[in-house]
Amino acid sequence: MERRRFVRTALSGAAAAATAFAIPAGANAAEADNLTNIVFTEEDPGHFAKLAGLHVPKVEVSGNTLNVTTPHPMSEAHYIVSHTVVLEGGKFLDRKTFSWKDKPTSTHQLPDGFKGKITVTSTCNLHDWWLKDLTV
Ligand SMILES: [Fe+2]
Repeated sequence: MERRRFVRTALSGAAAAATAFAIPAGANAAEADNLTNIVFTEEDPGHFAKLAGLHVPKVEVSGNTLNVTTPHPMSEAHYIVSHTVVLEGGKFLDRKTFSWKDKPTSTHQLPDGFKGKITVTSTCNLHDWWLKDLTV
């Protein structure tokens, strides 16, 4: 999924997220044309290039089950906050939040027979928002 479209979808009902990304009042993510160093991927890790291996979510699909793991250490000062799953077309599927005491793994149920793109995010409290796309 194109990052700009994903961000627009993710922010469309999330004033808190818009605040977190400091999008000015009256603007929206579709107007932001440079997401480097805002949204991170394995291909575009921006200024966190050395940290991609710890933050890009690992995703496996088995039948209708989507398993997500972020290979990131968890401590009170530095941890994975959440995983979010969005299906093709920007359809929100599920979100799992974590405390620092949790393991950053989550399981999500895909709709029966789902075929298409899936975007998974892994959010670190210090290193922001990492995306992984796949197609099933
Ligand atoms: Fe981190």
